[in-house]
Amino acid sequence: METPLLKAPQKRQVTAIIILLILLMLWEVGGMTIKYSVLEERESGSFVANLAKDLGLGLGELDARGARILSKGNQQYLQLEQKSGNLLLKEKLDREELCGDTDPCILHFQVLLKSPVHFIQGELQLRDINDHAPEFLENEILLKISESSQPGTAFPLKIAQDLDVDVGINNLRNYTISSNAYFHINVRDGGEGNVYPELVLDGVLDREEIPELNLTLTALDGGSPPRFGTALIRIQVLDINDNIPEFVQSIYKVQVPENSPVGSLVVAVSARDLDTGTNGEIVYAFFYATEEILKTFRINSTSGKLHLKAELNYEAVQTYTLTIQAKDGGGLSGKCTVVVRVTDINDNPPELLMSSLTSPIPENSPETVVAVFRIRDRDSGNNAKMVCSIQDHLPFVLKPSVENFYTMVTESPLNRESQAEYNITITVTDLGTPRLKTQHNITVTVSDVNDNAPAFSQTTYTLRVRENNSPALHIGSVSATDSDAGANAQVTYSLLPPQDPQLPLASLVSINADNGQLFALRSLDYEALQLRLTLTAQDGGSPPRSGTVQINIEVMDVNDNAPKFEQPLYRVQVSEDSPIGFLIVTVSATDADIGVHGEISYSLFQASEEICKTFEINPMTGEIRLKKQLDFERIQFYEVNIEARDAGSFSGKCTILTQVLDVNDNAPEVTVSAFTRQIPENSPEVMVAVLSVSDLDSEENGKINCTIQDDIPFLLKSSLENFYTLGHFPGHLVDVSGTGTLSQSYQYEVCLRGGSGTSEFKFLKPIVPNIQGHSPGPEIEDNTNDSKNSSQALMKSVVVQIVAVE
Ligand SMILES: *[C@@H]1O[C@H](CO)[C@@H](O)[C@H](O)[C@H]1NC(C)=O
Ligand SMILES: *[C@@H]1O[C@H](CO)[C@@H](O)[C@H](O)[C@H]1NC(C)=O
Ligand SMILES: *[C@@H]1O[C@H](CO)[C@@H](O)[C@H](O)[C@H]1NC(C)=O
Ligand SMILES: *[C@@H]1O[C@H](CO)[C@@H](O)[C@H](O)[C@H]1NC(C)=O
Ligand SMILES: *[C@@H]1O[C@H](CO)[C@@H](O)[C@H](O)[C@H]1NC(C)=O
Ligand SMILES: *[C@@H]1O[C@H](CO)[C@@H](O)[C@H](O)[C@H]1NC(C)=O
Repeated sequence: METPLLKAPQKRQVTAIIILLILLMLWEVGGMTIKYSVLEERESGSFVANLAKDLGLGLGELDARGARILSKGNQQYLQLEQKSGNLLLKEKLDREELCGDTDPCILHFQVLLKSPVHFIQGELQLRDINDHAPEFLENEILLKISESSQPGTAFPLKIAQDLDVDVGINNLRNYTISSNAYFHINVRDGGEGNVYPELVLDGVLDREEIPELNLTLTALDGGSPPRFGTALIRIQVLDINDNIPEFVQSIYKVQVPENSPVGSLVVAVSARDLDTGTNGEIVYAFFYATEEILKTFRINSTSGKLHLKAELNYEAVQTYTLTIQAKDGGGLSGKCTVVVRVTDINDNPPELLMSSLTSPIPENSPETVVAVFRIRDRDSGNNAKMVCSIQDHLPFVLKPSVENFYTMVTESPLNRESQAEYNITITVTDLGTPRLKTQHNITVTVSDVNDNAPAFSQTTYTLRVRENNSPALHIGSVSATDSDAGANAQVTYSLLPPQDPQLPLASLVSINADNGQLFALRSLDYEALQLRLTLTAQDGGSPPRSGTVQINIEVMDVNDNAPKFEQPLYRVQVSEDSPIGFLIVTVSATDADIGVHGEISYSLFQASEEICKTFEINPMTGEIRLKKQLDFERIQFYEVNIEARDAGSFSGKCTILTQVLDVNDNAPEVTVSAFTRQIPENSPEVMVAVLSVSDLDSEENGKINCTIQDDIPFLLKSSLENFYTLGHFPGHLVDVSGTGTLSQSYQYEVCLRGGSGTSEFKFLKPIVPNIQGHSPGPEIEDNTNDSKNSSQALMKSVVVQIVAVE
């Protein structure tokens, strides 16, 4: 197998300085060739051979004959030492430079002898030394090997070069590779010293395991030690579609609330393909899908994300099972299953389906079924559990019956009269989150049963008439109400036949059957009638119910009489000292009418202010009393008019003539008009004082008897009416002290006393006049009074002090 690149003679000689000279001298006519051999890379001046000796010339002969070395080209490799005849290297020679691949490397030269002229051919062979290492033209070798390559497959590698040509010794001889698990190197011999490396696959490659491998290729020559060069072998393992896409999970289970919006992500499936490139490019798709699935989901072929395409509805589909395929570019595919469970959301309110509803329902009925209904909820679980109720305080109850059926029945008999209509709200609530509810309103009406009789608002009615009414007079109305409805409440009035069969009721009173208005059929007589009737009100029910009431008809009096006084004129005398409240007289009037029409009220009629101030009359009793003190001296006579009035407009009048009687209620008044206080003694009759007397009373009560004491020397003379003069009367002097003369220093008090016929002269202190006149002073207690028995004499005294002067 080996193919040597170069001929490699089995000659082993390494000589540094000593030149092995093989001289072949071929002498022939016309020429001779000398051959030398020398190692490359010797220093210049190195000895090659002794030419003189090799030519058989004696010492100095070469010089003498003018020997010279000629080269074919310009370059001279050798130089000749003339004297010694030694041939030396003119310079260091590089075999590779001078000969390259040519082997053997022969440099031709000529030796010229001038005299005589003679040419000798010469050959210098440059022998190779190992002065080059193997070398790769590229230090990186890229190898692409399919992972499907079989073991044993050989991959030829690029060779290295070694400039040295010494086949098998200095040039390339072997290749090695860095140790690895997959490859070994095989070096083939190409003959003539040429070796060719090839990489042989030992095992199976797996790109998915080792996608790339770096190996170091070393080229070695045969030197000792060998020289070497390296190159990097980069092996790329080429992919084949040897992997199927594989899902991360074979089954995906997800729960999705049914209210998830369209477009929401359900799940992201993911598959892996170990291959690369299109072999590893995965496309997701539904493997097998029903129309329902295709309608509901979409899958992103690149990302594997499963999205909702339509709304879910738990109530319609609870579970979807999808098969999803992942396919690579090479056509391999894997599958997974996605189970989508739709979870229930409380999105359906309960429903109520009314099966039957009875309305109206008759009142007073025992337990009655009003409604039958069914409830349902399309959700599930708690979302579908329901609670059903109606309002509190209704006379109805809900009774659950078979599965979700309910009946609503009356709890107790109903009474239309208390409530005729019920608005019932049935509320159905589910127990989901959030709670959803449905309300259903029904109106149940209660129909009437004739369970109420007509009722009158009063137990008895008393109706009044005037007497002497016109016939067909409306005398009043009665009214009964019936709390039932319709015909059951339609009331008809009628009069029951009188208990006294003699009473001609039908000719007296009639009633309007429809409205209860009573009419008198003829003129009723006050004196004759006091009617007592029984009236019925009957409703239109079947059977009918009725109520009765007692009616009293009283014929009413008319105010056709005026009040009349017993006497038109009353004469009375009243003493002026009668006290306030004194009953003067009681008048009395009568009225022929009865009742209010006969009720009389008394009052003063057209009374003057004076009369109003003086008298008062009790409007009920007719008593006339004094309201203030009378004063005879002011008014002696009153004429008082009295009116008696009944409740209507009738009145009667009378007059009271009142005479005021005088009473001695005024004391006499004494006024001293002129007075001489000092009178000279022994004077003749002298007028001492002029006195004026008066009394407000009249007649006897006003008469005045004016006197002075008897035992004093003064004389009282009556002059003009009610005037007196008091004079000193010497002849009548009385000595009070017993001497009989008027003493100089005496003071006399003259007391004048007026009264009804009495007079006195006393030695007294003045008396304050008492106008009231009813409390005579103690001074007059000793009055000798013989005047009118009803009057007492009133006295007034005045004291006059008279001083007698000498
Ligand atoms: C090349 O090298 C290998 C390993 O070093 C060795 O076994 C083999 O004999 C060598 N071949 C030659 C021709 O030297
Ligand atoms: C192989 O060598 C190249 C070049 O040095 C380098 O880029 C690459 O990473 C190496 N690969 C490995 C598997 O070592
Ligand atoms: C699929 O998903 C990829 C990556 O997420 C995205 O770029 C692409 O727009 C999606 N395609 C559709 C049709 O949604
Ligand atoms: C029932 O409802 C109707 C209509 O809203 C209303 O007119 C009526 O008064 C209600 N009846 C009762 C008893 O609440
Ligand atoms: C039922 O009646 C109630 C109370 O009157 C009222 O609030 C509600 O709106 C009614 N519902 C319906 C559905 O008519
Ligand atoms: C007056 O009174 C005196 C003394 O009391 C008496 O004597 C006399 O008769 C009286 N006069 C008259 C007119 O009454």
